[in-house]
Amino acid sequence: MKILVTGGAGFIGANFIYYMLDKYPEYDIVCLDKLTYAGNLSTLEKAMQNAKFKFVKGDIADVEFVNNLFAQEKFDIVVNFAAESHVDRSIEDPRTFLITNILGTQTLMDACRKYGNIRYHQVSTDEVYGDLPLDRLDLFFTETTPIHTSSPYSSSKAGADLLVLAYYRTYGLPVTISRCSNNYGPYHFPEKLIPLMISRALANKSLPVYGNGLNVRDWLYVEDHCRAIDLIIHRGKIGEVYNVGGHNERTNIDIVKIILKELNKPESLITYVADRKGHDMRYAIDPTKIYNELGWLPTTTFQEGIKKTIDWYLKNEKWWQDILSGEYQNYYKKMYEQK
Ligand code: NAD
Ligand code: DAU
Repeated sequence: MKILVTGGAGFIGANFIYYMLDKYPEYDIVCLDKLTYAGNLSTLEKAMQNAKFKFVKGDIADVEFVNNLFAQEKFDIVVNFAAESHVDRSIEDPRTFLITNILGTQTLMDACRKYGNIRYHQVSTDEVYGDLPLDRLDLFFTETTPIHTSSPYSSSKAGADLLVLAYYRTYGLPVTISRCSNNYGPYHFPEKLIPLMISRALANKSLPVYGNGLNVRDWLYVEDHCRAIDLIIHRGKIGEVYNVGGHNERTNIDIVKIILKELNKPESLITYVADRKGHDMRYAIDPTKIYNELGWLPTTTFQEGIKKTIDWYLKNEKWWQDILSGEYQNYYKKMYEQK
């Protein structure tokens, strides 16, 4: 079995590569990644030592490059994690999001069609459903909730999802889609809420909370997401969408306070800043379908997961300090130090 994992130098893709190399030592895994600001080859250092793993630098939206790779490698399964993934960046510059997230998906699926109707899995997001009101805690996203996006990021992911389903219906490409809630864990790029707050708190810097901090996200430990994708690519029903989430809703301000408490830092570091434009209020996944069909349930509680994550950031300071001292620094200034 040979699997192409795109975007594997990023947060979830890298965790998926380690999960798969460990669980299926007989599989060959090829990672295709453009190494944008979010791709970090040092994250894959340990995987590079495994003879069953290969890294290829390239763009999923480059038709010629992708076709050559598929002609050479003869993949059995493609799992597409590659994306521009940060909502704030999509508000600043939507175009890259459309190119990678939509045209990149099309390029990969065309190659899947051309080189043997290859099994294709699209890693999508709960953000395609838009948001839920804070005063209706009885409401959850199911797979039949209408697509209703808010940001250029979520719109690009929704566009890609629709294209994936069109390739199934029109060409019979064997596809599946997973729509997961917010992940957290090792190798999470420090522009996203949890790693940003951990790294800034450790440096005794202010913690920028958008708006009133009452927006709700449904947090899942990254390994539980990897296990869900593993189940879907092996046993999922072709043409289907699976929601992935563990009923772990928290307000942003609660998350920040939990991190401060774990790190023994004062709440006076919290600074309320201007809200994100179009900020989604609440995400909440109903994972009944993946539980009923594939027996998936999350195994890491938030209490365990957040401790493990903080511990990882404490033990791997070089990993995130190297990011903070690079190109990320300019972006960081623009987004936070001028607010
Ligand atoms: P990330 O930003 O950490 O990583 C993205 C990776 O894709 C990077 O390594 C980057 O270099 C690579 N990439 C970007 N453009 C590329 C291109 N054109 N060609 C090849 N590689 C390219 O993202 P993440 O948080 O790991 O998210 C991975 C996927 O999961 C995304 O599709 C995202 O939409 C989805 N998702 C993320 C979350 C979350 O909480 N992070 C939740 C649900 C779904
Ligand atoms: O729900 C899945 C999505 O989760 C994925 O599809 C996205 O790729 C991923 O980035 C994530 O999107 P969010 O926008 O929810 O994640 P982010 O970490 O950017 O923000 C989480 C919440 O925290 C959100 O309500 C905005 C808020 N926030 C974020 C940052 C970076 C702050 O208050 N301050 C901040 O500095």
